[in-house]
Amino acid sequence: MYIDIMAPEKSKSSVAKSPNARGVYIETYGCQMNVADSEIVASIMQDAGYFMTNDIDQSNVILLNTCSIRDNAEKKIFNRLSQLRGIKKRKNNKLVVGILGCMAERLKGKLIGERDLVSLVVGPDEYRSIPSLVSNAFDGEQGIAVKLSKVETYEDITPLRTEGISAWLSIMRGCNNFCAFCVVPYTRGRERSRTLNSVVDEVKHLYDNGIKEVTLLGQNVNSYFDKLAKHDFPTLLAECAKAVPDMRIRYTTSHPHDMSDGLIEAHAIYKNICNYIHLPVQSGSSKVLKKMRRDYDREQYLMRIEAIRKAVPDIALSTDIIAGFCTETEEDHQETLSLMREVRYDGAYMFKYSERENTLAEKYEDDVPEEVKTRRLQEIIDQQNKISAEINKTEIGRVHEVLVEGESKKNPEEWQGRTDTNKVAIFKHSEDIKVGDLIKVKVNDSTSATLFADVIR
Ligand code: 5AD
Ligand code: SF4
Repeated sequence: MYIDIMAPEKSKSSVAKSPNARGVYIETYGCQMNVADSEIVASIMQDAGYFMTNDIDQSNVILLNTCSIRDNAEKKIFNRLSQLRGIKKRKNNKLVVGILGCMAERLKGKLIGERDLVSLVVGPDEYRSIPSLVSNAFDGEQGIAVKLSKVETYEDITPLRTEGISAWLSIMRGCNNFCAFCVVPYTRGRERSRTLNSVVDEVKHLYDNGIKEVTLLGQNVNSYFDKLAKHDFPTLLAECAKAVPDMRIRYTTSHPHDMSDGLIEAHAIYKNICNYIHLPVQSGSSKVLKKMRRDYDREQYLMRIEAIRKAVPDIALSTDIIAGFCTETEEDHQETLSLMREVRYDGAYMFKYSERENTLAEKYEDDVPEEVKTRRLQEIIDQQNKISAEINKTEIGRVHEVLVEGESKKNPEEWQGRTDTNKVAIFKHSEDIKVGDLIKVKVNDSTSATLFADVIR
């Protein structure tokens, strides 16, 4: 699941520094994989003697960890680079600016010198080379490292996670699916998984360090496979669930064709595997799904949903939907709307189709006019908001266990937590409630996005 270019997530750490140390500021765009990758980069930089900072003015190195999934994601980075030029003028120290992540991989050397600023371009599989490239950049040398790897998983690097009660843990990288619209296989390379033991050890380590919730991450997380020991994703999930029975376990993003019975069963068996599945459908039309090369049709997808609901009746479901993919007719669009009504997702991430260079779909005609895409997307969003609001209304009166995250965004006297089903619940704070507590609440009101609740004592 990609959050359509979320607010830049700053590297969270600010670590003690020696007088001559140089500061690194990281801004992260795009998906959760990038958030996890930035924590790996922070760890690599700290080991190399740099200190991490949240204050851009204190930094000597600015790294933007970027996303290429849609054209607007890339536009935001170019705008940000223009702003950074102003910051560079204001600062009197030497400044190195680098582009990491999917845009680095996609645009490679074309980014060097961008806005007279970028001297470093590093793709997702080359993060170990950042310290030497940064060091060269301080000597005036520009650097590019964009080779994709068949084996790199960074499994031996402990990410620098400095705050919070929830952790991202990347268990596999890359994707072999080549969906027609998607740039990811080109920017992140082929699929490869970490060993089961390394993941379970890291999960235990997180638990021992007070982390309450872990999300296992991969572009195609449920096709995880430990090649040496021959363990699949349901086995990994079960081993994690058993190793830390008091910790919440989530995962994202799943592909419907890897949503096996074993995986569904794991949800039914282990109560610490959260009651929430994100299962991107992309379209409700079998014709469009075929054109997208999604490997399933509408009926097969709906059968998976039926199997999930049968095994875990109270599961929450979310999805990704693309509006206006090539050849999508009004009838296809209506099929997407009807599939949404049939499944009744708790939430959805909804996008307009954006043509990406080198993908199979680039060869198709992008034949849905912009205004039609916009209208269809709006219809999809409106319908989803209505369904989410209806579902959340049925929550009123229900009791949930929520993991306390801290102050709500709107009112510091109100705090927020997350239900097992991944919904945000707002409640009145009192002295005895701390971040990381698991508390019981009863829902008293709701909107399409939020539950409001009373704490149960
Ligand atoms: N245009 C629009 N949306 C896209 N996604 C992936 N590629 C594109 C594209 N070219 C969406 C899909 C995917 C999510 C991560 O982003 O819905 O599941
Ligand atoms: Fe992209 Fe498809 Fe792979 Fe997801 S499964 S990352 S949409 S190619």
